[in-house]
Amino acid sequence: MTCESAAQLRKTGKINVEDSNLQKIGATHFKSGVTDEHFQVAKTALLETIKETVPEIWSSAMENAWGEAYDKLVGAIKCEKKPSSDTN
Ligand code: HEM
Repeated sequence: MTCESAAQLRKTGKINVEDSNLQKIGATHFKSGVTDEHFQVAKTALLETIKETVPEIWSSAMENAWGEAYDKLVGAIKCEKKPSSDTN
């Protein structure tokens, strides 16, 4: 999903996740008790993993692009964090 967001960001300059998906994902993370710290750890792990996987093309521009895509996606998930009334 972050990969898809990165591609979208590159192509259109913004990220568009369908609202219904976003609401579901937001509610799932809210219910699971995922905090900002967890999102930060996952971001570091994601960036490190990409760096280790493709060291030959890794650059600070690439790091920034992935970081921005991740942050925007997390921002969108967090906006929808409140579970809807009947989720289980
Ligand atoms: C951009 C970052 C992330 C994305 C795009 C993402 C995406 C998703 C998606 C699509 C689901 C399935 C939602 C559903 O079926 O309702 C999910 C579930 C979940 N995610 Fe994330 N996630 C992210 C970060 C995190 C982080 C940082 C944590 C905690 C360390 C986390 C913990 C969980 C948990 C506990 C579930 C529920 C698993 C289950 O009950 O089967 N996620 N996530």
